[in-house]
Amino acid sequence: MRVTIQDVQKMKRNAQPIPVLTCYDYTSAKILDSAGVPVLLVGDSLGMVVLGHETTIPVTMDMMIHHCRAVSRGAKNALIVFDMPFATCSPADPAGSLRNAARALAEGGAQAVKIEGGTHMAPVVTAFVGAGIPVMGHIGLTPQSVYQLGGYRVQGRDGAGQERLQADAVALEAAGAFSIVLELVPADLAARITAQVRIPTIGIGAGPHCDGQVQVFHDVFGLYEDFVPKHTKRYATVAATLREAAKTYITEVTQHRFPE
Ligand code: KIV
Repeated sequence: MRVTIQDVQKMKRNAQPIPVLTCYDYTSAKILDSAGVPVLLVGDSLGMVVLGHETTIPVTMDMMIHHCRAVSRGAKNALIVFDMPFATCSPADPAGSLRNAARALAEGGAQAVKIEGGTHMAPVVTAFVGAGIPVMGHIGLTPQSVYQLGGYRVQGRDGAGQERLQADAVALEAAGAFSIVLELVPADLAARITAQVRIPTIGIGAGPHCDGQVQVFHDVFGLYEDFVPKHTKRYATVAATLREAAKTYITEVTQHRFPE
């Protein structure tokens, strides 16, 4: 049975931590689904860790749908969340935004979407939820605004920033979001927001007090070697294992040991 947004919300009520991982393809989706990861985020981080872009900005709806379809073919139990890419939803374009979010479910096979932004995105959240499209909010460091924010840095360091983020979380909950990602915010602020809202908070670089944690597949399994975020813990070193296996393959082929 597929995990629902109600199941995820019940996990918060039962004080059961919510593990979330990003996922971008069929094979990984099958592995994570069979391991029991309840929520898979088809993140636009795929632009960086899968496609090699420097930011998530070049990611398009078509790219996201391509990957989300693959994930939905592999994951039959997890709740699949589709990350709305850069400039595909905005309060300035309600019809276009709704059309894009509908594609995420109808073509991508997702059960929910994630959108970056706080109070100013509340009308978009309300419209999506009204159309039957569950929304995960995302505040703090919002990578699609990297140029506006001046880099990938911790948000909500001063009093004004903290008040803004708390207001953002409250506005997203009031608009109908079923959960909120808190990215790169101080742990004490994440704890306050988590206590303040009834919907689950999913942290990344936001300390241990969120209701759940999300991490990027390539970071936690040691596949992406260009950069390791400080908040990541490596649960495997797959790139090193693959490199060694590739060397063994080269040796065996060049020495006529494979095929036997
Ligand atoms: O795209 C992504 O992977 C994300 C997570 C880091 C939250 O937005």
